[in-house]
Amino acid sequence: MALQRSAILSWYDENARVLPWRVAPAARRAGARPDPYRVWLSEIMLQQTTVPHATPYFRAFTEAWPTVQALAAADGTEVLGAWAGLGYYARARNLIACARHVARELGGRFPNMEAELLKLPGVGPYTAAAIAAIAFDAPANVVDGNVERVMARLFAVETPLPQAKPQLKTLAAGFVSTERPGDWAQALMDLGATVCTPASPACGRCPARPHCRAHKAGSPERYPLKSPKAERPRRYGAAYVLTRGPLVALVRRPPRGLLGGMLALPTSDWRGRPWSDAELHAAAPACAPWRPAGEVEHVFTHFALTLRVARAEGDWAGALWRPRSDLEAMPSVFLKAARLALTA
Ligand code: ADE
Repeated sequence: MALQRSAILSWYDENARVLPWRVAPAARRAGARPDPYRVWLSEIMLQQTTVPHATPYFRAFTEAWPTVQALAAADGTEVLGAWAGLGYYARARNLIACARHVARELGGRFPNMEAELLKLPGVGPYTAAAIAAIAFDAPANVVDGNVERVMARLFAVETPLPQAKPQLKTLAAGFVSTERPGDWAQALMDLGATVCTPASPACGRCPARPHCRAHKAGSPERYPLKSPKAERPRRYGAAYVLTRGPLVALVRRPPRGLLGGMLALPTSDWRGRPWSDAELHAAAPACAPWRPAGEVEHVFTHFALTLRVARAEGDWAGALWRPRSDLEAMPSVFLKAARLALTA
């Protein structure tokens, strides 16, 4: 363990990615510490998306709201608008709730203990461990998909995911030490993201190769093994792009539930069978000369959606009339539908 640990940490010293929320290993050694607000924000953004996708959002957020107090004081709909495109909008609502809690109840300071971090809105076991390790150098066991993959390969774990999760967590715990916990967590993340990748891992560049059982067995990409997944159910809906000159009719979705609180196109229900032309017209939000404009596909965590898109010029009293430049504040599924209708 100690050999692998120090090989991976030395590799990180040379190869750490330069990330806007990160304090580089040399600076950390010189005593610099990251801003817990930036670590928290980055971890929430990175929960379901990649570093390249999240980075521009991180820059925009920290420019608009450089401190937790600034984010806590922000207008909630503005924050949701800035989050559009990152997906998983319940996270954006929890982000606002968490910022307000930390600013108002905790004097603007994030807790430095994993157990206290876990009590914050939107902070689960992974995120609590990541913030404790990265922001406060606490010896927390930070296990995400990258770390699971690295452990499954180092130890050639034959149990498939998700059953292997507890075993992989225990294996990862064996490496946690009070020496450089923040760097260790980030070293494993970087190794998983840049070397020990899901397909075609770059074993030639891997500091842990001499100790890796999957490499020794000659088939690192076979790990982690995965149980066959149940197929996602499909739902069907209709979305309506109603224009009045340069303006587009939008709605604000109800605060709770899928895409809650977000600016959106008006839609029908989303159900288990497709919508016919007649049903498309009947479910429209306003009486207008609707024309079908095609359909878009979108994959959510728990289902796939086929959305028929209809387009018309007309009026509707229930609309929030917005310029086309505001369409960017909608979740991607609606942006795709609006683009289809407006460029068709
Ligand atoms: N993925 C999740 N958190 C990360 C972090 N702090 N650095 C790099 N990749 C990450």
